[in-house]
Amino acid sequence: MSRCVVTGAAGFVGSHLCEVLLDRGHEVIGVDGFIPYYPRSFKEQNLVDLRGRKRFQFAELDLREDELAPVFKGADAIFHLAAMAGLMRSWSDFQWYSSCNAEGTQRVLDAARDADVGHLLYISTSSVYGREATGDETTLPAPYSPYGITKLAGEHLCRAYEANFGLPITILRYFSVYGPRQRPDMAYHIMIRALLNGESFTQYGDGEQTRSNTFCLDGVDATVRAFEQPDRALGEVFNVGGGEIVSLNHVREMLEDLLGRKIEIDHQPARPGDQKHTAANIEKAQRLLGYTPTTRVYEGLKAQIEWQRGLQG
Ligand SMILES: NC(=O)c1ccc[n+]([C@@H]2O[C@H](COP(=O)([O-])OP(=O)(O)OC[C@H]3O[C@@H](n4cnc5c(N)ncnc54)[C@H](O)[C@@H]3O)[C@@H](O)[C@H]2O)c1
Repeated sequence: MSRCVVTGAAGFVGSHLCEVLLDRGHEVIGVDGFIPYYPRSFKEQNLVDLRGRKRFQFAELDLREDELAPVFKGADAIFHLAAMAGLMRSWSDFQWYSSCNAEGTQRVLDAARDADVGHLLYISTSSVYGREATGDETTLPAPYSPYGITKLAGEHLCRAYEANFGLPITILRYFSVYGPRQRPDMAYHIMIRALLNGESFTQYGDGEQTRSNTFCLDGVDATVRAFEQPDRALGEVFNVGGGEIVSLNHVREMLEDLLGRKIEIDHQPARPGDQKHTAANIEKAQRLLGYTPTTRVYEGLKAQIEWQRGLQG
């Protein structure tokens, strides 16, 4: 059993990760500052089951200013997911992005080094690659949005702590995660909500933009594999995708099929920073970690719909 700290534990992916780590017998300390990027009520809901579980503790902390040493003390691993995650608001609220994603990460790394933590797993994003994210991990990052820039800054900070202080690091670059608990600002969440409520959906661009959607539990699986096989993961960077590439138009058709109704589209031009194509090359994660995504997009969307129906009730 390892002692794991998960930052961003009340968020979409972080809450799933905490549950899986507990299921695998680890002790988990969840950290979250409830940054009001979307309502706290969603995050409290994400924590409901976790709060009742043995071997789980929760610390409400803002990584930018609160003392981290007491929580990091004795940790075998830190999974650093806490971030300002949505791309669009990084144009208008850049200060939040730079403070949470760069300064917050620097404080996490500093405290991890001081606590002599055995493994720090930094959750990064396909957005570090830029407008197209279609190559393998050797592709030179060229972020196309302020969000991508702050997440890449986090990666570089990880490398600086690794090179100077020997902090054991793994970087995982997630590609468009979806499934139950998806953030309410994300496209599939908005589209499902519109379909359930009989509202129109604002579509930016022609809908032919493609994504390597990753079902949340597949992303978590890759992350846990990296943690549990440090000999294969330390020092590495991995793309984490779902293995299936779909366009937004195709997702809309799947959702219409699953819900048995058509959605009205309000067409708008593509927005600054929007990625055109992402196609995760996951060969490295498959080869080194034995990672194979198992959830098809149609099935994953079905699970997300079920969860969103519960939110409406
Ligand atoms: N969801 C995706 O499609 C996706 C894709 C690629 C990468 N990622 C990365 O995965 C991670 C999790 O994303 P998510 O979609 O679950 O987002 P989320 O917003 O649901 O979760 C992030 C959590 O971090 C917390 N947080 C942010 N700043 C903090 C701070 N300063 N102190 C304490 N807590 C703080 C927030 O309150 C939030 O609960 C992020 O690092 C994101 O960049 C997500």
